[in-house]
Amino acid sequence: MKPLIIANWKMNPITLHEAKQNFGLVKKALKRIKNVRVVVCPPFVFLPVFEPGRRLELGGQDCFWEEKGSFTGEVSPKTLRSLGCRYVILGHSERRIYFGETDEMINKKIKAAFGAGLKVILCVGEKNEGEIQEMQDQLEKDLMGIKKGEINNLILAYEPIWAISGFGGKAASVNEAMEGALFVRKILNKIFGKNLAKKMEILYGGSASQNPRSYIYEAGMNGLVMGGSSARARDFIDLLKTVKGS
Ligand code: PGA
Repeated sequence: MKPLIIANWKMNPITLHEAKQNFGLVKKALKRIKNVRVVVCPPFVFLPVFEPGRRLELGGQDCFWEEKGSFTGEVSPKTLRSLGCRYVILGHSERRIYFGETDEMINKKIKAAFGAGLKVILCVGEKNEGEIQEMQDQLEKDLMGIKKGEINNLILAYEPIWAISGFGGKAASVNEAMEGALFVRKILNKIFGKNLAKKMEILYGGSASQNPRSYIYEAGMNGLVMGGSSARARDFIDLLKTVKGS
């Protein structure tokens, strides 16, 4: 098994110099660390100087739903693709909460990202511990009108908001992660049918560095979404050594 680890650098680091250093260290480490797949999602401006490597892909942290035009500050999914990205994170709770992204907006972004040939890492999660049913509405709205033929390019990230470091950072137990992921799978079954849904990868995100191996090897997640800690190369490389498959 080769877990998929998404490094969502968020708004880190501050300088291009640090960014290059971090990326270089991770790229080098991945020549030795096998049985793990990594997607680095840095701030957009660093993308042009990063090149994918062995088991190392690039992703955006967001994108807009239009291809081009008068949309100040936005980034087209096609631009991400042209910069070597194969992935994009959409619906992250920080985008939903700080920037008012609605499920309708996320739905448009998913369609545009698929149109540009990107794989989408769709983040869903409940605000308060124990309220996982909230994800049904998110998933149904976010995935409205997505065709069955497109879901090969869809990866789900179960990210309980209360577990994300910026919103409390209480690490979810292995059972809670498993329960959340099962619930996501159940809704995916409903939307796309069991046969298709069972092939989809579901990742776990939210203070995952506290217990990374257990989420994968006990809770059965296909990988992890790591936040700000993933922008610190040495910590991140240690994590990759911990979670890699055998
Ligand atoms: P965290 O964030 O690892 O900093 O809790 C995870 C995420 O936001 O995806």
